[in-house]
Amino acid sequence: MSTFSKPANSLILALSKGRIFDDTLPLLEAAGITVTENPETSRKLILATNDPHVRVIIVRASDVPTYVQYGAADFGVAGKDVLLEHGGEGLYQPIDLNIAKCRMSVAVNAGFDYDKAVRQGARLRVATKFVQTAREHFAAKGVHVDLIKLYGSMELAPLVGLSDAIVDVVSTGSTLRANNLVEVEEIMDISSRLVVNQAALKLKRERLQPILDAFERASRLDN
Ligand code: ADP
Ligand code: PRP
Ligand code: MG
Repeated sequence: MSTFSKPANSLILALSKGRIFDDTLPLLEAAGITVTENPETSRKLILATNDPHVRVIIVRASDVPTYVQYGAADFGVAGKDVLLEHGGEGLYQPIDLNIAKCRMSVAVNAGFDYDKAVRQGARLRVATKFVQTAREHFAAKGVHVDLIKLYGSMELAPLVGLSDAIVDVVSTGSTLRANNLVEVEEIMDISSRLVVNQAALKLKRERLQPILDAFERASRLDN
């Protein structure tokens, strides 16, 4: 028997640990909500807030859209990269929060002539966590690719000969530099979005709307 109760007027927010949790805290504060437990020190996956109607669940970044899609969470915060892979089904995406900003790029070993390989119509092996985005990018360029799905540490793949190129997110570029890789193409700018379950938006509008408004205002002020 589950001890988890979800009263009709309560809200569940899905966040991932790390930068998304950290960057969402000030937005929650702007809405008058303080998370009273720290996910970095607690093993709890359901965190209380000062508002008895609002709880935060801690999930993997790529699982946020799934929890919100199925209504297990009413709303969440996810990167555009993650949302493109998920497809966005069942999600309303009202606000770009302008947090966790980075870009999606193609990178290769420093010695690899990417432009020449593309010009010559070579078939490229590309390792990535973002297979949908990569597939669309190379299809639009007319470049033939074999995509190799990875779940992390993409920067390693060209170093050990798993792939010719990677598609990954880049921010400062220090991970690429540390691994002697170069960014050869920017695919798109990435930031995190607020995502809301479409049914929750209708049924819980009264509770959700003030929070969405506060997030919107705070994300505009900060950027
Ligand atoms: P994961 O465990 O999936 O790597 P992260 O917390 O690293 O989770 O990433 C969450 C989101 O933050 C990503 O979906 C992406 O939009 C963004 N992001 C990832 N890496 C960076 C970075 N180095 N700088 C800024 N934003 C990033
Ligand atoms: C992300 C991403 C890159 C790095 C890019 O890794 O997967 O490896 O950031 O940032 P940079 O350009 O500033 O170096 P993250 O820090 O999220 O580590 P993890 O996902 O492997 O845990
Ligand atoms: Mg990461």
